[in-house]
Amino acid sequence: MANNKRPENMERIVTPALAEQFIQEQVNEIKAQVGDKKVLLALSGGVDSSVVAALLIRAIGQQLVCVHVNHGLLRKGEPEQVVEVFRNQMKANLVYVDAVDRFLDKLQGISDPEQKRKVIGAEFIRVFEEEARKQEDIHFLAQGTIYPDILESGGVKAHHNVGGLPEDLQFELVEPLRLLFKDEVRVVGDALGLPAGMVYRQPFPGPGLGVRCLGAITRDRLEAVRESDAILREEFAKNGLEGKVWQYFTLIPDFKSVGVRNNKRSDEWPVIIRAVNTQDAMTATVEDVPFALLQHITKRITSEVKGVNRVCYDLTPKPTGTIEWE
Ligand code: XMP
Repeated sequence: MANNKRPENMERIVTPALAEQFIQEQVNEIKAQVGDKKVLLALSGGVDSSVVAALLIRAIGQQLVCVHVNHGLLRKGEPEQVVEVFRNQMKANLVYVDAVDRFLDKLQGISDPEQKRKVIGAEFIRVFEEEARKQEDIHFLAQGTIYPDILESGGVKAHHNVGGLPEDLQFELVEPLRLLFKDEVRVVGDALGLPAGMVYRQPFPGPGLGVRCLGAITRDRLEAVRESDAILREEFAKNGLEGKVWQYFTLIPDFKSVGVRNNKRSDEWPVIIRAVNTQDAMTATVEDVPFALLQHITKRITSEVKGVNRVCYDLTPKPTGTIEWE
């Protein structure tokens, strides 16, 4: 039975000075647990799964099988980064699954936010299960469970809306980060040589851009969310706001407004920008983004993103607004 309690009187398990020692201990533990068997990991490219992947690659190399499911709801450049970092640089055994059409077909016409989350979660499990069945000799499932997941939901990663794998696919778990807090996970990721953009990225919801393309998802509007989000991130990075603002993103509601383009009336979508700061995501304040920067981002989005004629900035703290819009 794995130890699921942090040692008492231990404020920090991992600091930059202790990172190598932690990594070595985990490498030894993983080797002892796994032996010469294979381990499966769902690698989303988020902080936790990326750090688990890097740790397992260090410990068992090709015995790790990473599965990256591209469900079409990731931010611009994310699937490519997973392939570049893990397959090309770290030489990991990575299965890349292009499931974009599957997910978008399943989501067609579904407008209720909780239903969207359920469909995304259930389809994810289905795709992952199919990939798991294609692999031979898998005995273990690695997971990026971290200490807050154990405290908050009994070991299930927060916000997972559906159950796990079916009975006949029950693997023994490998959870090397289970006693760490998020900042400690980042320290380990740094020490393992993962890119800073991966280790220090802002929080991103499991259902991804799916809950930022409000109402029933359409491919054109989803693309506009992805492109506008990429512009916002690029401009925040250029202007020193990356790493300073806790979470920032764009979203698009499911209605159009009238505008003017090339001297003609145009019916296009508005893009809404949200940028917030918080300690624990229970309450949040709005970032005071310089007005000139907002104007510049507006100009870029309305000229570069197809189908968008307006940009709004959400001034609402939490409460009364939540961070996401749905
Ligand atoms: P809200 O919108 O509730 O968001 O103020 C608080 C934090 O949780 C994230 N969030 C989610 N994360 N699955 C996730 O993994 C979800 O369904 C989900 N909904 C919200 C949100 O991005 C913010 O960081």
